[in-house]
Amino acid sequence: MNYPKHVHIVEVGPRDGLQNEKQEIPAAIKIELINKLSAAGFPNVESGSFVSPKWVPQMATSAEVFAGIARKPGVLYSALTPNMRGFEGALAAGADEVVIFGAASEAFSQKNINCSIAESIERFRPVAEAAKANNIRLRAAISCAYGCPYQGAVPTASVLDCLQRFADLGCEDVGIADTIGVGTPAMVYETLAAAAKMFPVERIAGHYHDTYGMACANVLASLEVGVSTFDTSVAGLGGCPYAKGATGNVATEDVLYMLHGMGIETGIDLDAVCEAGQFISEALGRAPHSRVNRAMAAKRAG
Ligand code: HMG
Ligand code: MG
Repeated sequence: MNYPKHVHIVEVGPRDGLQNEKQEIPAAIKIELINKLSAAGFPNVESGSFVSPKWVPQMATSAEVFAGIARKPGVLYSALTPNMRGFEGALAAGADEVVIFGAASEAFSQKNINCSIAESIERFRPVAEAAKANNIRLRAAISCAYGCPYQGAVPTASVLDCLQRFADLGCEDVGIADTIGVGTPAMVYETLAAAAKMFPVERIAGHYHDTYGMACANVLASLEVGVSTFDTSVAGLGGCPYAKGATGNVATEDVLYMLHGMGIETGIDLDAVCEAGQFISEALGRAPHSRVNRAMAAKRAG
């Protein structure tokens, strides 16, 4: 196979990973996690969300987190921004990249951001303009590309329609997300192959939750299309508060082990990521949800 030689990993653990945790995690722990992740070599660490604290209480500390991190030159510290209020928060916090997040499913759009897909695009338009005016990178995420917890099946045409809207807003990168982790490699291949015909493949990212254990297989299917950017979460943390039953993102450790084993570079130190995964899992009082992390820990112990 003609796989990409280099893969770009966006570490989303501090945001997608922690947003679903019920226990209040102190900002100091989030800051230490982000510092460990930037030291491990990630080019982009999704560090928080500027959303309503009533909707996602765990992200209410995002301004404090951004203010406390030790910024490593060259690393993009990104944040989710659903509207102008969120953009202003991200701008004040010094986020390097903002993420607007829509959905390929009307039902999910309503549950997650309380508006229709069309309304969400109108809310994102001034955010996109403000990002350009302030020289902040603009990324987008399309939720429920492979299935919706409320609507069920999601037609590929809805994903492509959403992608076109984000392309028209001038997004530099667009992530196509399996929010509830139901996609299979054939679905991923078909959707990404169609997406790559209308948007540059090097600007498409794969974002997979691992609910059904398909996420690494879906990364591989994406590589076959030529997609070379993935959102992953240290220790497999995560879930979406508005997608019941969905588990964490694909574990960063598992993706790195697979890619490095295939001779694909990432520039990221797997041992350092395992250490960060142990750190945050201990803080949450459980073992990492990453097979690679657990296997490497067992090997070290043995
Ligand atoms: P709304 O209630 O329709 O908005 O929520 P509103 O404008 O009527 O405001 C309601 C209240 O929120 C007001 O406060 C606003 O000031 C406040 P009140 O007057 O009641 O005290 N508010 C804000 N506060 C802080 N920051 C803001 C903000 N905006 C309004 N930016 C809204 C609409 C979008 C705000 C809400 O639905 C929301 O915050 N949703 C966020 C949901 C979320 O974060 N979900 C998880 C992230 S998406 C995800 O995980 C998927 C992804 O990983 C990809 C994948 O896997 O699919 C990206
Ligand atoms: Mg997600």
